[in-house]
Amino acid sequence: MTPGICNALHDDHMATVRLLEDLETALTRAGRKKPPAPDDAGLARLLDELVAPMRQEITDHFAFEEEHLFPRVEQLGDTPMLTILKGEHNTIRPLAERLAGLIAASRRDGFDADAWAELYDLGLELAERETFHIQKEEMGFLPLLGHMLAPDEDRALAAAYADAKARS
Ligand SMILES: [Fe+2]
Ligand SMILES: [Fe+2]
Repeated sequence: MTPGICNALHDDHMATVRLLEDLETALTRAGRKKPPAPDDAGLARLLDELVAPMRQEITDHFAFEEEHLFPRVEQLGDTPMLTILKGEHNTIRPLAERLAGLIAASRRDGFDADAWAELYDLGLELAERETFHIQKEEMGFLPLLGHMLAPDEDRALAAAYADAKARS
């Protein structure tokens, strides 16, 4: 049986929150003042492992919410919550892109003090904004969506989302 679309999004959210918590912990431990040692394999691995799920979050996950789920809830009428959630997607996307770019550059060249400070600030800002965004969706948007969907519509959306992720 396919789990419903709300469960699928919830699982994504929890995985993302865990990654962002790990990022926050690693950055805070390393400190902003000086770049981590080139042989800090733990941090390099954590940053590398962040890139693919972060990209999936700002592409497949955000796009599916915007194209298939927000419009469904908009059928209830004007909902300021959705304007806020879409605005947050638009803020988070370039932050995540920039962070991925810095991580890729550091793999080639290591970190100088400026690049490290930028990654540090960006990483903490992304973690804070995205965690807050997810909390809002978990508390407001998903419960509302869950109430609106009939079981067959829910199954169809969950299958379409699984397809979209498998194709990317
Ligand atoms: Fe979202
Ligand atoms: Fe979401």
